[in-house]
Amino acid sequence: MSRVRVAVLVSGRGSNLASLIAAAKAEDYPAEIVLVLSNNPEAGGLELARAAGIAALAIDHRPFKKDRAAHEALIQSTLEAAGVELVALAGYMRVLTGAFTRAWEGRMINIHPSLLPHFPGLHTHERALEAGHDRHGCTVHWVVEGVDEGPVIGQAEVPVLAGDTPDVLAARVLEAEHRLYPECLAKAVRSLSSPV
Ligand code: GAR
Repeated sequence: MSRVRVAVLVSGRGSNLASLIAAAKAEDYPAEIVLVLSNNPEAGGLELARAAGIAALAIDHRPFKKDRAAHEALIQSTLEAAGVELVALAGYMRVLTGAFTRAWEGRMINIHPSLLPHFPGLHTHERALEAGHDRHGCTVHWVVEGVDEGPVIGQAEVPVLAGDTPDVLAARVLEAEHRLYPECLAKAVRSLSSPV
């Protein structure tokens, strides 16, 4: 079976990356993680990838100052050189330009810690609690130009319980993320090879 070549982009600890790496160990998993990139040289996800024998590179955004296009051009050429077919954002905390998202439209997915369209952006757990929602969760979606927009691939719900703090709720959602993302990456990859 030929597997789809996936790059995972991270900015931080990389626990979702870890769940994707674990899933991709199964022989029948349809994706292979060939590259991990981070805008943050300190990202835990880079170490985690290297420990799993996956090529991992920091492409620090800071030297590029406000020139997002130049930073993304380097990301783009690195993805192309690695023969990447699909990009999975996993806690990648830089907003991408329209040019980059258009270049990867239909081939880039993201995980977001809310039941979109509720709570795009940051501080989703605080906002779910403030809004008094009794359920919350996470979404994997195709990436389009708007922030946290795009067709939904899958969602996982968790209950909001009495006494939840943002941290307690975040931990419950994160467990759901770790189950949801590997399923949705497989679904996304399968839809590439058999478009509907
Ligand atoms: C995850 O909760 C992910 O959903 C979120 O960042 C966290 C990364 O954790 N992403 C976003 O908020 C993107 N809008 P991880 O580095 O442990 O996977």
